[in-house]
Amino acid sequence: MRIVMLGTGYVGLVSGACFAEFGMEVVCVDKDAGKIARLQNGEIPIYEPGLDELVRKNSVRQTLSFTTDLAAAMHGAEAVFIAVGTPSRRGDGHADLTYVYDAAKDIAAHIKEYTVVVTKSTVPVGTGREVESIIGKLVPRDMFDVASNPEFLREGSAIGDFMRPDRVVIGTHSKRAEAILKSIYRPLYLIETPVVMCDLETAELAKYAANAFLATKITFINEIADLCEKTGADVQDVARAIGLDGRIGRKFLHAGPGFGGSCFPKDTLALMRTGQENNSPLRIVETVVDVNTKRKKQMAQRVIAACGNDVKGKTIAVLGVTFKPNTDDMRDAPSLDILPLLQQAGAKLRAYDPAGMKEAAAMLPDITWCKDAYDALTGSDAAVLITEWNEFRGLEAEKIAALLNHKILVDLRNVYKPEDMRDAGLQYTRIGESEMKSKPQNALAAIHNLGLVDDEADEEISLEKQAS
Ligand code: UDX
Repeated sequence: MRIVMLGTGYVGLVSGACFAEFGMEVVCVDKDAGKIARLQNGEIPIYEPGLDELVRKNSVRQTLSFTTDLAAAMHGAEAVFIAVGTPSRRGDGHADLTYVYDAAKDIAAHIKEYTVVVTKSTVPVGTGREVESIIGKLVPRDMFDVASNPEFLREGSAIGDFMRPDRVVIGTHSKRAEAILKSIYRPLYLIETPVVMCDLETAELAKYAANAFLATKITFINEIADLCEKTGADVQDVARAIGLDGRIGRKFLHAGPGFGGSCFPKDTLALMRTGQENNSPLRIVETVVDVNTKRKKQMAQRVIAACGNDVKGKTIAVLGVTFKPNTDDMRDAPSLDILPLLQQAGAKLRAYDPAGMKEAAAMLPDITWCKDAYDALTGSDAAVLITEWNEFRGLEAEKIAALLNHKILVDLRNVYKPEDMRDAGLQYTRIGESEMKSKPQNALAAIHNLGLVDDEADEEISLEKQAS
């Protein structure tokens, strides 16, 4: 079966390559001729583990191709997926549907036989109906149906998420469209992946509800982390203690600097607007947006506080700038809030990120970009870990301490064991650790550092640490 994927961004390219892997004949279409030429040449414009191999393999066996010619692509295609961008509209947070509606018009002009038009982009409730009326102006109603098939792909693990989804959601009123979509997803059907058949509006809202719920879960544990710091609790243990409850679940309970990325920030805003517009305000989502926005900025203050409330003239090493590991994506990354605030407070920044530096350099001026983590740490006074890339987990505590002039490490992702860091003489702070616990231990690390400790005192310290 031939299908068209309209849009070769993150969703379109991953979905197109995976559908090709399912055995579909997939034609990916984009208006950007340069991008299509690069894709035809095997160049992958996004950093997604495994995508280059999947695109290459399916291009060679001709189950995947790229073109700017939508008319030719649609010839013989039973389904056309709209996978174009739906960015936040400037100023009001609504999803900008210009590209979706332009795509619907373009598709309508080339429907010559019955076609299912499928919105895969994340679109507000009601968009599918609007697409239906746009196409219906040009195409007889029995020549097409519209369906919603939202994706739940995480950047960095998108192919795995596509090939082994928790569920497939298909929204349509048409039995004919349902049959075609089920045959496209047959390989997942065969491994008994749950398929949620529902109507258009339900599928559209389910996507936003999923992302807003996950963003809420993250924001919840972030606020619990702040309370842990005031009450002597540890957020890692709280997260474990509640996550083992099957009704809560262990995932998305990692406290951090706040969520970023191309989805949660824009989708929570768009859903908030949908609620307001329909006189059914989503006050929890509104609060999540507000709390998360403030949190990312508060993280800069956390670094400044760890440096004795003054970073003027100090050099700070930054480990990771992307919004999460295993991606080069900088969209709404916490670093975009944290780093300019540190610079405004007078800090000089030396930064390293395994994949995001090219993209970040255009967004974060006046930063010294380094060749690896130890290079960034060399000659710095303090360090902050913002993104939990695996390669940071292997850094040696002693080496970090030796390279940092003031031996201060702020870990915004709780990557390290506090005792390892403090035993190496680092004043180490993390998210959601009791201040009552971290302050004395950091003071001890500082004393240890300054070499003011003799053998008896060493003995006292270790006894004291055992007591704490
Ligand atoms: C998200 C959804 O997970 C995915 O289903 C949807 O299709 C697209 O949006 P993505 O944005 O790629 O995927 O990444 P995700 O892994 O969800 O992380 C989003 C943000 O939340 C990142 O900034 C991440 O650092 C943060 N996060 C995630 C936490 O702070 N704590 C967690 O426990 C999980």
